[in-house]
Parts: sequence; structure tokens; C-alpha cells
Amino acid sequence: MTIASDFDTELASHEIYSDPERMHEMFETLRREDPVHWTTAPGHPPFWAVTKQADVIEVGKHPDVFIASPKSFLMNDVEQRVRIEETAATGGKLVRTMIHMDDPDHKKYRGLTQSYFMPANIKRLESVIQERARALVGRLIEKGTSEFCSEIAVWYPLQIVMTLLDVPESEHPYLLKLTQQFLAPKDPTLRRDGPDERGKGAVAKEYFAYFGKMLAERRAAPLKEDLGSLIAHATVDGEPLPLMEAVSYYVILATAGHDTTSSSMCSGLYYLLTQPGELDRLRARPELMPSAIEEMFRHGSPVKHFVRTATRDFELRGKKIQAGDEVALMYHSASFDEEVFDEPRSFRIDRGPNKHVAFGFGIHACLGQNLARASMRTFFTELLARTESIEVVGKAEFIASNQVGGMKTLNIRVTPSKQSTTDRIEVAA
Ligand code: HEM
Repeated sequence: MTIASDFDTELASHEIYSDPERMHEMFETLRREDPVHWTTAPGHPPFWAVTKQADVIEVGKHPDVFIASPKSFLMNDVEQRVRIEETAATGGKLVRTMIHMDDPDHKKYRGLTQSYFMPANIKRLESVIQERARALVGRLIEKGTSEFCSEIAVWYPLQIVMTLLDVPESEHPYLLKLTQQFLAPKDPTLRRDGPDERGKGAVAKEYFAYFGKMLAERRAAPLKEDLGSLIAHATVDGEPLPLMEAVSYYVILATAGHDTTSSSMCSGLYYLLTQPGELDRLRARPELMPSAIEEMFRHGSPVKHFVRTATRDFELRGKKIQAGDEVALMYHSASFDEEVFDEPRSFRIDRGPNKHVAFGFGIHACLGQNLARASMRTFFTELLARTESIEVVGKAEFIASNQVGGMKTLNIRVTPSKQSTTDRIEVAA
């Protein structure tokens, strides 16, 4: 089946993600008619779009064939040229995180913090998470009406991750701005000012200046329990991490750790409020909270895609992928695959089983998923306990990003519950 080339242009674009209806139609067509689709958009390097869950998993099972270096996200020709110039100027890469690595390095670097993100350790972090949730729900109640995404959701995971890295609260707003610019380089309101093709390189430089200083300070001090200190004092093959890899470790935690969770909070709340009956059902049956959160991850799937590069020829669903081809794993599409999920577009707090790939699959599967689950459960438990009603006011908007995205604007009004606590903790912003 041949799909029209203007369709390919949409598939390669960022804008399609700001229109969920159109985006869903596009992916439904692809999953039905050409699930492993060779995409040739003008001004864009060609790539395979893998849209069904079974194929995303199949690619994830072969990390030696589908490698994470040299490219993580789709880029158009101009972005690619600029990136090559920028990286040549820095003598290599803008950043080199575990997401950009393949084995054996990937395993070594991931292993440095793997146990930190295991459920047993996440339990130890409960008080940090709880304190942040209570403070932000308190602020929401105090305001009555607010724009949930920018006033509440973006702060919550940011504050958690930055607390784990031991970054002072006064610097959270600056790091939030950098992260948004890094992850939504094309969104008209979130992107950096100026010629946006160069935005990412400039943001990476700022990250390096900030985290490079932090690294030096942590290395000069004795090892402490925080994640920032752990990375500063870690060794690989008996040597301290090189500057690029150490700073990149901070960058990946700063970026991967909060934009994704805040997007899930916004879209999760939006669908909980707009899918008839679901909020009341969750209030009546709080034991459904874990499955409701899982459905928020699936339905929001904030990581839209990641790219792999084929090291050798490989046949996938009858298509002949050749060595050197780019393969885009369309995680968002895979989480709506009709073959896996009954009525995938409907948001069901009791969906089960819910084997989505919002956290990816294989050796690169999300390291922070236990932290994301704990953060979301704590926030929504607190929110429901302390409010009597929550309603959407006005029109909701979605971010134009094919990398990490979701909702941009969600105006809500809350009424406190009678038992609402009055505890208040001062937070940034
Ligand atoms: C709703 C929340 C989140 C979602 C949907 C999400 C999604 C993902 C996805 C899809 C990947 C795989 C990327 C690939 O295929 O290459 C990934 C990797 C990763 N995530 Fe998350 N993430 C979330 C929260 C977090 C948090 C809270 C942290 C840590 C603070 C985190 C840290 C990481 C790291 C370090 C990786 C790289 C793993 C590797 O390459 O081995 N994420 N995440």
C-alpha cells in the first residue's frame, strides 16, 4: 500500500502532535495499512516508522542490530546539518548519555544508578515525594483556578529530581526553562528564541556550563547520599567518569526525569476529568489508583518516538530494513495498538492488563519508571483526598513536539474537600 507523500510530511513533523485527533487518525491508518512504513518527507532524511507494539518490541529485542547511537530523535535536513556543524565544533557530541550509548558502555553507565531507581530505594524517597505533592496540591487549592500544566505539573517532578540531585530550589526555574527548550525545540511558546535549528546546541552548552560547575563542586566534596554526588564519585573501568559523560548523566536525569512525568500528570488529569464517570469511579474506588496511573502513562505516552540505526539488514513484518537505515520507534502509536488494547482511545482507569510501551522496551527501557509511578500515585492520591470537585475550564492545548510532549495548557477549577488539610510548605515559583 502506498501512502501519499503529504502524509509522510505530517509523520515527520512536530505540528501533528498538537492536534491529537489528526495524530490518532494518522497512526490508525499506518497501523492498519503500512505498520512498518518507509517515510520520505521532502527536506527530511528517510526513515522507517514502526507503529505497532509487536514490532517496537521486536526491534527492542535486538539492540545489537538496532543501535541507539548515532541518533536519538528524527531531524530534518537543516537540523541534521546544524547538528553536524555544532558537534564538529565541540569535537564530538553535544551530550553522551546512556540513551545515546550501546553495549558495552550502556550497561556500565546504566549500572551506576540502577539500584538507586529500584523500588526499595524509591520507598526511601517517599518523604521527599510526599512533601512536594502536599505543597503543590496546597497551592492548587489556595489558587482555586489555575493553569495546571505550567503552574503545578511542571514543578512537581522537577522539584523531586532536583532534590535527588541536591540542586538548590532557587535554581529550579532556570533548569525548568532549559529542559523545556531542549525537549520542545519547535514549539512556538516553549522553544528558545532565535533561529530554532540552533536552539538545541545552545541549550546543551548552557547545561554543560551549569552541570560542569556542579560536578567540580561535588568531586571536591566527600561522597554523600544524593544522586549528584553518587555520579560525581562513580567510576567506570576503575576511572572517574570523563567530563562529557559525567555532565551528560546529570543532563539525562534532568531532562528524562521531569518533562515526561509532568506531561503524564496533565494529560492524565485531563482525561480523568473529561472521560465521563472516571473521576467519580476513582474517588469511590481508590484501590484503582495504580491501574488509573498506568492508564495515564499509556494514554499520555509522552515520549513520542526514539530513533535506532540498523547495523545490518533485517526483515521486519516483511519489510527489508537495510544496514544504515533509520528506524523510528513510535512509542505513542504502539500504546494505542488495537491489536493489544481494546478501544485504545478510551481512557479506562481499570484497564487491565495494560502492557503499554510508554516506558520503552529492552535495554533502554525507562530507568526512572518506578520513580514516575510513585510520584504520580502520591500526587493524585493527595489531589483526590483534598478536593471535592475539579473541573476543566476553557480549552486545553497540546505541545507541538514529536520528541517529548503532551498537554501544554489545562485550566482547572478546584473546590477543597471539607477535610482538606491546611498544611502548607513553601515551594519555588
Ligand atoms: C511518565 C514518565 C516517564 C516516561 C513516559 C518515560 C519514558 C521513557 C522512555 C520511552 C525511555 C526509552 C528511550 C529509548 O527508547 O531509548 C526512557 C528512558 C529513560 N528514562 Fe524515562 N520516562 C519517564 C520518567 C523518567 C524518570 C522520572 C526518570 C528519572 C529520574 C527517567 C529516566 C530515564 C533514563 C535515565 C532513561 C535512559 C535509559 C537507558 O537508556 O538505558 N525517566 N524513558
